[in-house]
Amino acid sequence: MKWGLFKFAAERGPDGISAMATPETDLDQSLSSADRLVIRRPDDWHLHLRDGAMLATVVNYTARQFARAIIMPNLVPPVTTADAALAYRNRIMAVLSEKSDFTPLMTCYLTDDIAPSEIKRGHDAGIFTAAKLYPAHATTNSSHGVTDIRNIYPALEVMQKLGMPLLLHGEVTHKEVDIFDREAVFINKVLKVLLNDFPELKVVFEHITTKEAAQFVAEAGPNLAATITPHHLSFNRNAMFEGGIRPHYYCLPVAKREEHRLALRRAAISGSGKFFLGTDSAPHAAKDKETACGCAGLFNAPYAMEAYAEVFDEESALDKLEGFASEFGPKFYGLPLNEGKIVLERVENAAVKTCEGPTGHLVPFRAGETLPWRFAGIK
Ligand code: DOR
Ligand code: ZN
Repeated sequence: MKWGLFKFAAERGPDGISAMATPETDLDQSLSSADRLVIRRPDDWHLHLRDGAMLATVVNYTARQFARAIIMPNLVPPVTTADAALAYRNRIMAVLSEKSDFTPLMTCYLTDDIAPSEIKRGHDAGIFTAAKLYPAHATTNSSHGVTDIRNIYPALEVMQKLGMPLLLHGEVTHKEVDIFDREAVFINKVLKVLLNDFPELKVVFEHITTKEAAQFVAEAGPNLAATITPHHLSFNRNAMFEGGIRPHYYCLPVAKREEHRLALRRAAISGSGKFFLGTDSAPHAAKDKETACGCAGLFNAPYAMEAYAEVFDEESALDKLEGFASEFGPKFYGLPLNEGKIVLERVENAAVKTCEGPTGHLVPFRAGETLPWRFAGIK
């Protein structure tokens, strides 16, 4: 057993992980090569970094593992203009650790009255990589989201022409729709219409949670892909209620039944270029989750690749991890593959219980657990 995180914690920092932001490999020399996985440097195609002090707290957890990430725009106020996205990108760059080569890929938050010209301007200036559709009131900071998809058809026309991906929070949130059915209803009521009306538009169905979504994406044309989070691959909805209410397992879309988790696993390891990595790491202070009306979102950035490696290993599909984590996303977005490599080792290590945050501590996904894989750095 290697207690690398504690060693680093003692030497350099209070929470043990941010201290490892330097991109150097720290190999366990006692391991055989069978317990070491070297893959192309991955990207995170769905990430919430927040802003201000929280941004400074969380960004290097992602930057130490991933080369690039799609940065979600649900700030307060939301990122709806190219200027706002550029300013946000600069704030991210300003708090990256010194040696980091991380690239944030910015997105535009779509509103009912978004101007197509602003999307084109941001895209042409190299600021917007994609645009995100939040159905109004679906999740954190989505009150400015879209109330009817037809309201953004002029923007979608422009995006289709530009080859700019539309990223979907795929849930119908009407009161009469059961929360566990929101995604499946979205497919039938919104997604099918959208794909029919915009056959050339590139669409990413974000953080899919159901067998219906996995099947729909697999069977759709090449312009539709999906991201899958580590948490939706790791637990089902029982986790939210095990022995009491468990706010650190609450996210949106909520985890579903076991059969859905298994369908997501099959999709992730299928080797299909339509399914790729997107953590949806969404940090909230523990006090904002452990309360009467707790926030949705898991902070999984500290152990993201460890969690994915564990899932692929359990499925005897470690040979499929590189495609999912490092190749299919850039290919779909039309971006180059990363040059560097990362090293993952099959060696038990203890996850920290908490991470320091600006308004109290954060509880990361897998907090306090013994993880079978460890991230050993960039090669
Ligand atoms: O659980 C979630 N948290 N789902 C989302 O869609 C948004 C995210 C957040 O920003 O907190
Ligand atoms: Zn998200």
